[in-house]
Amino acid sequence: AKNERESMMIVTSYAEKYFEETLHQDTEGMSVGLTYLKQRGFRPEVIKKFHLGYCKDDWASFSEQALRDGYEKKYLVDTGLSIEGKKGLIDKYRGRVIFPIHSVSGRTVGFGGRILRNDAKAAKYLNSPESTIYHKSKVLYGLYFAKKSIVKQDKCFLVEGYTDVISMHQAGIENVVASSGTALTIGQILLIKRFTPNVTVLFDGDAAGIKASLRSIDMLLEQGMNIKVLLLADGEDPDSFAKSHSATELQEYIKENEEDFIHFKTKLLLKDAKNDPVEKANLIREIVRSISVIPDSINRSVYIKSCSNILDIQESVLYNQVSKLIAQKR
Ligand code: CTP
Ligand code: MN
Ligand code: MN
Ligand code: MN
Ligand code: MN
Repeated sequence: AKNERESMMIVTSYAEKYFEETLHQDTEGMSVGLTYLKQRGFRPEVIKKFHLGYCKDDWASFSEQALRDGYEKKYLVDTGLSIEGKKGLIDKYRGRVIFPIHSVSGRTVGFGGRILRNDAKAAKYLNSPESTIYHKSKVLYGLYFAKKSIVKQDKCFLVEGYTDVISMHQAGIENVVASSGTALTIGQILLIKRFTPNVTVLFDGDAAGIKASLRSIDMLLEQGMNIKVLLLADGEDPDSFAKSHSATELQEYIKENEEDFIHFKTKLLLKDAKNDPVEKANLIREIVRSISVIPDSINRSVYIKSCSNILDIQESVLYNQVSKLIAQKR
């Protein structure tokens, strides 16, 4: 199994270099891929830092070159770089810009490939399949390039997408990782916890995923982490915000608008409950749940006090409910 992992990573590392060379040296790579990235406002430094690349829009130029260079078909297929067609291998990422995904130690374990034109019929991103070297639930995009800064700042920003990470680096914020669009997993949380307990989650302002992410953020609390959140304006994500503002404006905006997660959640649910007493009771139960997973009792007390203010109910009510839930868990 160890040999298999090594063989797969030799292929992914070869592919990363191949796609990177295509982006910078090939005619199509430059006129299509590099032009796309430049039009989106990515500067050469970050394009190089993140080893971005391009896969030509041919059936198999990458796969055929890899075979000629002696790489085995099995590993090209297992890493998801090539697909087996009737007449031979086909390049999975053809016509896409490539975002290599690195392990925490900097090895290339997978790829995201973005289509250049938004098209309702085709997936915007193609990603590596699960394999011996790529476990989606245990990878955070950008962590390798962020870890030094996360330790130095004692804080990690968590964003949704590849381009959010890259744009924030370009704006001078390097302590940032992406969950790549999915709900956070415990494996990803433990990865962050190795470097800092302080996390600020920056949500895309498309609202869709927020309610779904609340539970996965509870897992961060459960790990004793300190969580802040910031919901961007409708239609914005950190990438688009960074492109329409200066680096200083982005940094100021985050500093002024990030909010404690439990308070954010309380206010968000309170807005939905309006004046319906049953809804309000459900919301209180939900907040009690979140507070009760916090391991530190002093932190819990502080939240019980502040949330009772926001919810306009007696502190003792929250206190009793939280205690009851904790007792049940024992
Ligand atoms: N994603 C994916 N497949 C899709 C859509 C999204 O894997 N079809 C993942 C990608 O990792 C993406 C993240 O979810 O970066 C966030 O999705 P979204 O906000 O839609 O994309 P952006 O990152 O904003 O990408 P872009 O700015 O290029 O549109
Ligand atoms: Mn690399
Ligand atoms: Mn989104
Ligand atoms: Mn986005
Ligand atoms: Mn975006």
